[in-house]
Amino acid sequence: MKPSKKSSDAKRPSRIKRAHRNGRGPALPSRSAKTLAAIVAEQQRKIERLSEWRRRLSLLLKFTKRASTTTKVDDLLLLLVEEARSVLNADRATVFLVDRKHQELWSKVASQTKDIRVPLDKGIAGSVVMTGQIENVADVYKDPRFNPEIDKRTGYRTKSVLAAPMFNAKDQVIGVFQVLNRKNGKSFDQQDEEVLTLLSDQASGHVENAQLYQDIRKATQETIIRLAAAVEFKDHDTRAHLWRMSQYSAIVAREMGFDAEWAENLRLAAPMHDIGKIGVPDAILNKPGKLTPEEWVEMKKHPAHGAEILKDSDNELMQMSAVVALCHHEKWDGSGYPRGLKGDDIPIEARIATIADVFDALTSKRIYKPQFTLKDTLDIINGDSGKHFDPKVVDAFIRALPKITPIMEGFAPKDGQTEPAQLPSW
Ligand code: C2E
Ligand code: SIN
Ligand code: SIN
Ligand code: FE
Repeated sequence: MKPSKKSSDAKRPSRIKRAHRNGRGPALPSRSAKTLAAIVAEQQRKIERLSEWRRRLSLLLKFTKRASTTTKVDDLLLLLVEEARSVLNADRATVFLVDRKHQELWSKVASQTKDIRVPLDKGIAGSVVMTGQIENVADVYKDPRFNPEIDKRTGYRTKSVLAAPMFNAKDQVIGVFQVLNRKNGKSFDQQDEEVLTLLSDQASGHVENAQLYQDIRKATQETIIRLAAAVEFKDHDTRAHLWRMSQYSAIVAREMGFDAEWAENLRLAAPMHDIGKIGVPDAILNKPGKLTPEEWVEMKKHPAHGAEILKDSDNELMQMSAVVALCHHEKWDGSGYPRGLKGDDIPIEARIATIADVFDALTSKRIYKPQFTLKDTLDIINGDSGKHFDPKVVDAFIRALPKITPIMEGFAPKDGQTEPAQLPSW
């Protein structure tokens, strides 16, 4: 346990204080004579208690391993809830996290898409936030602090509640870990309190890590998107194009069987593909007509410029975007640029981004070309399968069209506009 630095409203009480508060200090050994039967019975209880501890510890270890590899806060919360239920023989469990900005406690429920939100200072959970003390209530409907609002909303009948505070490294309460309705009609006992305290300490660490990880990831993503959008100063109409083509890329990746995380990485890496256009003179980039051979030489440098900007990063997303930037104009038959790579030598992330990029270029109006109809676009793409594009990627793209066309139609510029009115956030 970390040293106590008191810096918030509720702070971590010492374990001794907690035990004392509950009137359950360690029992003193009795010197009075006991019958053999009493000794045997006591040993029996000790053995049962120990075997329950063993069961609980082995469950804890199992979950610890899973929790330490879970980096998404939502997934982690659901995992912790499952852990608490099985370790503590509880019917339900909830992890509430403190949202200081809105003065609320919020929680995820597996069966519901919407978060549960309750006022920060209400209910038994609120009491735990305020005092930083564990609460063990055998019958909540007899406790005036209990907030029956959640029961009303979920149709669930809460009876016993055990709720422990979760502290961060600065000993501030960051959440409440609560289990409801101990099985077999019993209420929660002292061992349960100790176990839930252990669980909350462990959970706090994991939640803090996951939150930090998520913050860093969000900051990286935002930096990437802003950097990608900087090209807009030189090459117009790019922001919406970048947004659409990265959605398409992720959809096709999923269609091809890549997992959600990889597809999400591609969604965030793909917008960087044309960052190298920053290095192409404006007069070429914004030329209304065909490019001269000399101008093409300059234009064809943009993948290398992009890779130059993005290369040599330790960041996974940045590495993927460097690959996509360098290879998004390679063609399946080897006739692309800059290196003339062929077939599977072209990284798959680039093969996917290529078709997404071209599809969006074709279905959009560009300074050098009119907008093509969906039918003409698909004719070009199908006709270029095995030439410009990987046939497997074309197949996946066609299969995914029902997901792609709503994005194309929903986020296309309206008449006379170059950008759609509004884009969803990245
Ligand atoms: P972009 O406008 O983002 O286009 C990306 C890719 O979409 C093109 O890569 C090409 O593969 C495909 N594409 C775009 N328009 C058409 C089309 O009308 N027909 C077909 N079959 N494919 C099309 P590409 O050709 O390597 O061009 C790279 C970039 O060079 C383009 O990015 C654009 O910025 C610029 N560019 C290409 N052609 C011209 C042009 O005639 N005039 C000007 N000013 N720029 C051009
Ligand atoms: C409360 O803390 O009062 C709410 C308990 C519940 O989740 O039902
Ligand atoms: C190209 O693919 O050569 C440029 C696009 C076009 O204008 O055809
Ligand atoms: Fe490009």
